[in-house]
Amino acid sequence: MGRLRLGVLISGSGTNLQAIIDACKEGRLDAEVRVVISNHDTAFGLERARRSGIRDVYIDRSRYDRPKAYNAAILQALRDNDVDTVVMAGYMRLLGTSVLEAYPHRVLNIHPALLPSFAGANGIHDAFDYGVKVTGVTVHFADEEFDRGPILAQEPVRIEEDDTIESLEAKIHAIEHLLYPQALQWLAEGRVQIEGRKVRILPAS
Ligand code: GRF
Repeated sequence: MGRLRLGVLISGSGTNLQAIIDACKEGRLDAEVRVVISNHDTAFGLERARRSGIRDVYIDRSRYDRPKAYNAAILQALRDNDVDTVVMAGYMRLLGTSVLEAYPHRVLNIHPALLPSFAGANGIHDAFDYGVKVTGVTVHFADEEFDRGPILAQEPVRIEEDDTIESLEAKIHAIEHLLYPQALQWLAEGRVQIEGRKVRILPAS
């Protein structure tokens, strides 16, 4: 595939965005973040983008009467910046079909639990409260449903006796920050093959 041209969608703090920016800078990820798009104007991820000289775009959902028009604005921002791969990194909305259809198998999401367990907005808390002994991180392709598309990468995280919700959050985020750039790098290397729900990672050549 070669060097990826990423459009990163965020809603908040953007630590995963930062991990991707850093991996690009350090040469661990053959990609360039072309634009960062947020649905919240106060999202710190927008500031992270500006600090790295990356274009930042705030798209105010309330300015659009229909989801279709809002998603058209997102698609326009992606196209204007020549994006070839869309990365959702803490983007707390569903992406419209117009965007998914424009980027078939090129929209990724990260979830802080081992899908299909603990889907939804509170994956870390839900796993902790349930009392599972192992949770983790999932990187998957996005489709029209939250947290459902084919799984590209998963990494387990053990919940130890002395873990608190805070220590678990720290462990999960540390894994996220490694796994997302890694999964994107597989994509850049053209090693990702999708067959239905199954995603095969081909050996490095
Ligand atoms: C991450 O835990 C991610 O898995 C979830 O939202 C959080 C975003 O965190 N989808 P950040 O904005 O990247 O710091």
